[in-house]
This record gives sequence, structure tokens and C-alpha cells, in this order.
Amino acid sequence: MYTLTNSHGVEVRAMNYGGIIVSIRVADRKGQFADIVLGHETLEGYIPNPPYLGAIVGRYANRIANGKFALDGKTYTLPQNDGTNSLHGGLKGFDKVVWDGAPLKGKTGVAFTYLSKDGEEGYPGNFKVKVTYMLTDTNELILDYEATTDKATPINVSQHSYFNLAGEGNGDILNHEVMLNADRFTPVDQKLIPTGELRAVKGTPLDFTKPTRVGSRIDDNYDQLTLAHGYDHNWIINRKGADKGLVLAARVYEPTTGRVLEVSTTQPAVQFYTGNFLDGTVTGKHGHVYQRRYGLCLETQHYPDSPNHPDFPSTILKPGETFRQKTVFKFSAK
Ligand code: GLA
Repeated sequence: MYTLTNSHGVEVRAMNYGGIIVSIRVADRKGQFADIVLGHETLEGYIPNPPYLGAIVGRYANRIANGKFALDGKTYTLPQNDGTNSLHGGLKGFDKVVWDGAPLKGKTGVAFTYLSKDGEEGYPGNFKVKVTYMLTDTNELILDYEATTDKATPINVSQHSYFNLAGEGNGDILNHEVMLNADRFTPVDQKLIPTGELRAVKGTPLDFTKPTRVGSRIDDNYDQLTLAHGYDHNWIINRKGADKGLVLAARVYEPTTGRVLEVSTTQPAVQFYTGNFLDGTVTGKHGHVYQRRYGLCLETQHYPDSPNHPDFPSTILKPGETFRQKTVFKFSAK
């Protein structure tokens, strides 16, 4: 377990099992600290971890249809662990392996590295991945992702923290206000696989271009919400032209505590998931029972099932290339 603290008393704890962010303690508008991520007090609590609480997800975060993709003329088969889909890297994804942890030199942070061997969970290539968590004195948690491979492979890595800015276990997230910097999303079919359409959010309950209460439209009679039982979609982050720099993807505000989370990223999209599958079967920290929609995830990433959608931005990493992405979680209160 690595504990990162900054000059404002913000504290982030992360462990080498699954690269899991175990807790994030930040102040509210009155200076009261609370832990704002769902999780467990013990390692055993995370084994198993069906909701992927706090974990790094990969080699391919999100879904690959029918657990199959073709690359360079060869078809690869992945474990189907979500109906017929392969979800979050398969049966033993990056969330369930032990990473090597090392403190960052001269910085408040930790680097987790992992070698995913050729053929692991069906993916090609010896894949070396490094995820660093760094905490700054401006209350930013900076996530840096870096990876290389010796055979071409699809890659999509993300972070699966469930936030509740009122404090973990403190009710559902329906009163949180969310802004997503995205004019379009990728509609899904019954299996939550993108249909290939890029749909405008305008005029739909998925329009979060202006700050909106999560609960105000979540149960609207709209095909995408019915299929996903709430929000569980990939929003395409607005960017100028081919810019691949850090942009604001999301802002979340919790009115009773004033806590704010801003998410910026170099990634093309963000999966906004409202914990629709939490159902009270997981008891987390302090005996808190995590009921439906007790946390929300903002998983910055590529579009789901990209290896089967040649028209989506490519997720293929080739030998000799280095994959690099950055996501920043910034905490404040107002
Ligand atoms: C992702 C998916 C959800 C769900 C969770 C884990 O966010 O998009 O559908 O599988 O992971 O429960």
C-alpha cells in the first residue's frame, strides 16, 4: 500500500494488487475531510471485486464483442466474461494481478508496472505497462499511462474508481451535478456494444454539455437508458481538430458538501457509468452497503469494441511504438 499526501492534507492510498486506488480523502467547503471513493478496508474485500472498485482496467478496458477481434489476418479469441462480450481484459484482467510498485523519486507518487505475457487472456504480445499516480500540491491526482509491446495488440487502459463526492457509502449519486464536455456519444445495442453510430447528445437525456443533476433524466423512457439501466455510455470528448492534448472531459459537483471533481484527459472518450449494477451485494468500508447508483465512474478511454470498428480511432499498439495517455483528477470545493 502506498500513501500519498500533500500540503493540504489530501490523501490518496493505492495498492499493488490491481493498482487499486483504495481511498481518496479530500476536504469539503467547510474543510471537513471524507473518503470519496468506494472500496474496502482489507485486501480480502477486493477478492473478488466484481464492480472493479478503484482498479486499473485492461488490457482492453470496456467491451469487445463476442470476445473476438482480427488483427493482421489472424483472429484472436478472448474470454467471454460479460454475456458473450469480453469485459475489462477478461477473467484475470489488470484489476486482478499484482503489479510492481515503486515510489516516484522526488515526487509524491507511485509507479506500478506489469508485464502482461504474450497470450495472456488471449491478447498478443509481451505487453509492458506502467501506470503512475502522482499527487500535487494543487490537489491534482495525475495518472500517467505508458506501454510497449513486441507484437501488435489492441490496448485500452483506464481507471475504474467509483466516486461519491458526499463521501463513500453516503447515499446515491443522483444529486451530483455532472458536466461532460462532449457533443456526441456511441449508442449501444442490448449487449452494450457500440452500434457504430456516433449520435449527437443534443435533445437527449445524455446531454450533459451544461451541468445537470444525474438523477433528473436517468430513468427517462429513452432507448439508450433502458438498454443500459441508466448511464453506462462512452461520450466522445470535444476537441479542436486533431488535438490530442489534455482537455477537460468532465466536471462533477456535489451540492451538500460543495466538493468538485474535474477530470481532464488526453484520451478520446470517457465512459460515464452510474453504478447501475451495484445492487447491495457488496459491503464496503465501515460496513457501508453499496446500493444501486452509490458511485459514479468517469473512465477515460478509447471507444468500446474499437478493434471491431475500423472507423473508430485505432487502439492498436505496434512494436516500436510507445502508448502514452494522461488523466488528471482535480479536487476542490466551492
Ligand atoms: C464498466 C462497464 C459497466 C460495468 C462496470 C463494472 O463501467 O461499462 O457496464 O460492467 O464497468 O461493473
